[in-house]
Amino acid sequence: MRAIEIPQDLALTLRRATRVVVLTGAGISAESGVPTFRDAQTGLWAKFDPRELATPSAFARNPRLVWDWYASRREALAGIVPNPGHVALARMDALVHDFLLATQNVDGLHERAGSRRLVELHGNIARVKCSREHRVVAKWETPGGDLPPPCPHCGALLRPDVVWFEEMLPEDALARAERAARRAEVMLVVGTSAEVWPAAALPRHAKAAGARLVEVNPEATPLSEVADDVLRARAGIALPALVAAAWPDAPHAAPAV
Ligand code: APR
Repeated sequence: MRAIEIPQDLALTLRRATRVVVLTGAGISAESGVPTFRDAQTGLWAKFDPRELATPSAFARNPRLVWDWYASRREALAGIVPNPGHVALARMDALVHDFLLATQNVDGLHERAGSRRLVELHGNIARVKCSREHRVVAKWETPGGDLPPPCPHCGALLRPDVVWFEEMLPEDALARAERAARRAEVMLVVGTSAEVWPAAALPRHAKAAGARLVEVNPEATPLSEVADDVLRARAGIALPALVAAAWPDAPHAAPAV
């Protein structure tokens, strides 16, 4: 795998920074084998566009189809582990005084890699909640019949605890990420097409507030021309290189998977 050159002044700026924010998207989990949204859906789900499944109207129209799509993604995650990109961000969390990782991903891989100061802007696929009261439900029966399981408290259908298109993000998570972005000295944007709002606003807030904006993505995105640095590489290569360049003497923490 090709190594990547980290600009010396970026490494120095990151090492000296006391306030760092990171926004991640599906691209950071690609090297763990989790398909990104813009990749073609594979297998059974190839004929569906995620944007037609991850919506309240899709759930209203065919709740069992949406439930089964998330159940299949949850099952697929069972055999997946964090990759060096997730681990590098967990190490950064331990090395930076004031650090926050805001992820759009629902796969739980950042937490499994050891990230602690983390907000999940779009929820987490491992969690299930009541579609009426939005209370998280710890366990449920795999349903027979043609409906998702009922909420044990009120009988309404259960649904994944993720943010669908047209839905509001968890207020506290978004507010925490926005506050951090507006005071960041450095903001990394990793593995996101930066097309879905309001998450896509975070890098613009950081840039407007004077942060150094760094994009990590093998492809160009709308952010590329406003970023101060573009590491045109996969997260699993660029992030470990960035951490090693900024903190060459830090101990190599093993991933907590
Ligand atoms: N390392 C870094 N970036 C990568 C890698 C990799 N190994 N592989 C792909 N990418 C990049 C792609 O170039 C693309 O820019 O990751 C990005 C993935 O973009 P999307 O599939 O649009 O995923 P994301 O940006 O997270 O989507 C945002 O949209 O579909 C909704 O709610 C869903 O959270 C999701 C949101």
